[in-house]
Amino acid sequence: MKTIKRIGILTGGGDCPGLNAAIRGLGKSAIFQHGWEVIGIRDGYKGLVENRVTRLTLDELSGILTQGGTILGTNNRVSPGHYLEGTAENGEPIFVNAIDRCISTLEEHRIDALFVVGGDGTFTCTEPLINAGFKCIGVPKTIDNDIVGTELTIGFTTAARIGTMALDHLHSTGNSHHRVMVCELMGRNAGWLTLASGLASGADVILIPEISFDMDKICEFVEERREGKSGFSIIACAEGAKPLHGTPVVEKVDLTRADPIHLGGIGSVIARTIEDRTGIETRTTTLGHIQRGGEPSASDRVLATTFATAAIELAASGEFNKMIGLQDGHIATKDILSVAHKQRLVPTKHRFIAAAKAVNTCFGD
Ligand code: F6P
Repeated sequence: MKTIKRIGILTGGGDCPGLNAAIRGLGKSAIFQHGWEVIGIRDGYKGLVENRVTRLTLDELSGILTQGGTILGTNNRVSPGHYLEGTAENGEPIFVNAIDRCISTLEEHRIDALFVVGGDGTFTCTEPLINAGFKCIGVPKTIDNDIVGTELTIGFTTAARIGTMALDHLHSTGNSHHRVMVCELMGRNAGWLTLASGLASGADVILIPEISFDMDKICEFVEERREGKSGFSIIACAEGAKPLHGTPVVEKVDLTRADPIHLGGIGSVIARTIEDRTGIETRTTTLGHIQRGGEPSASDRVLATTFATAAIELAASGEFNKMIGLQDGHIATKDILSVAHKQRLVPTKHRFIAAAKAVNTCFGD
């Protein structure tokens, strides 16, 4: 087996709190434990295609643990197999297969193993590299917490803390004005973020993609609450939530992105319907990228450092093409390609749902 001398690190997909903690954990343990050199790839796979890399020494790796975002930059538009080269005269996008350019970058910088910190899209893009004989290791991150093979992803607990805080704050106006306050959270087609934030803040209604909602049930519920002591209702609604027999609300479709569907707008649709049907004054707040920003929580820093250092030890032991994950509270690994193209949704019998229902939270079902 060829010994590792130099590793590459790439952050792919949407940014999230804890990426820098992961870069630091990978880089520092590579240097301190094994004396490997560390190369950072700029802006995810875009930098790999465009040969934009930077050397990461202990200087660059210091002081970043608490910072949000990623010092390397990231990208959730680029897939090397379908790389946007430019635009034709007729305005059509021109896509090319840029795998060879990625391989040239890895060869030119003598990268023996590539560590990709990302989600299912980032892991999927390792396939042609693995097929070409390169060694890859995945470290899972996303505020959506929807990666198969791990019960927790880097970024999730920070985003859930932000979601919880936002819902807590909405209680003041809801209570004072006797209104319905709808808050739309991110998460794509998975409800983890909305469920955890809603449960933590005691939201009265939680709407997640995994449980289609019936608008009549929601209106009945908020009308009943109007008659009660407090009179207001807080609704935590996932961007991917959808009505029975309906589809999620799509904000825009962008065919130049690896994932062309951009969800958004269901919160306003629900708010408008409640106000029209019940006459209760209703407001919407969309949290958007606020959920992805700021410094990582203590638990994200711990998770990122634990995942990163475990990933380095995996490589040192000669195991590759795996993703590090957390299973039953322990570090575990899965074949990276077995988790690509997949999504981990909330099981409808999950204990969080049971707990929320036990305290009379409405799921609109
Ligand atoms: O996957 C992370 C995520 O924040 C989703 O929750 C959200 O749907 C999407 O990314 C937003 O993407 P963008 O940053 O491209 O708007």
